[in-house]
Amino acid sequence: MRARVVYDTNYGNTRTIAEVIATELGGGTTTLNVADVTEASLDGVDVLVVGSPINGWRPTEKIQAWLRALPAGSLTGVRAAAFDTRIKLFIHGDAAAKISHGLHAAGATIVAKPQGFVVVGTEGPLAPGETGKAGAWAAFIGSELRATA
Ligand SMILES: Cc1cc2nc3c(=O)[nH]c(=O)nc-3n(C[C@H](O)[C@H](O)[C@H](O)COP(=O)(O)O)c2cc1C
Repeated sequence: MRARVVYDTNYGNTRTIAEVIATELGGGTTTLNVADVTEASLDGVDVLVVGSPINGWRPTEKIQAWLRALPAGSLTGVRAAAFDTRIKLFIHGDAAAKISHGLHAAGATIVAKPQGFVVVGTEGPLAPGETGKAGAWAAFIGSELRATA
């Protein structure tokens, strides 16, 4: 398995979640800021987790642009999942589901339901328990990967 967690972040909270997920997935899983993604970044990657803060009810512009640029079928054979960070508002919008849709559109097999993680304010910090929730979500992804290997 070659797994990678691609994320965007404004204040570091989404990076923290990305790092928890990478640690839990293990096996040398690496994190990569979407700003540093190159054409070669997904070479040989067969597990891809993507995360973004919700900005204006949707993923960040950088994540949206990257997803739009993925050629159709380029993620065929890749197992994937998406998450976002968000403020606990009555109407907070969604980024994870939109990312998941984009990954599926590029050919990926989605192995877990999109997941949101809550921050206390715009700049964070993450709400109590959210890193633990991220570890549990990643553990679920790991079990799905083993079950469908
Ligand atoms: C420009 C901007 C727009 C935002 N829009 C939303 C939103 O629509 N819904 C929401 O729940 N949070 C929104 N937020 C709060 C972000 O979700 C929060 O800043 C983010 O989760 C923090 O993660 P980060 O440290 O990785 O950037 C917004 C934040 C910014 C800066």
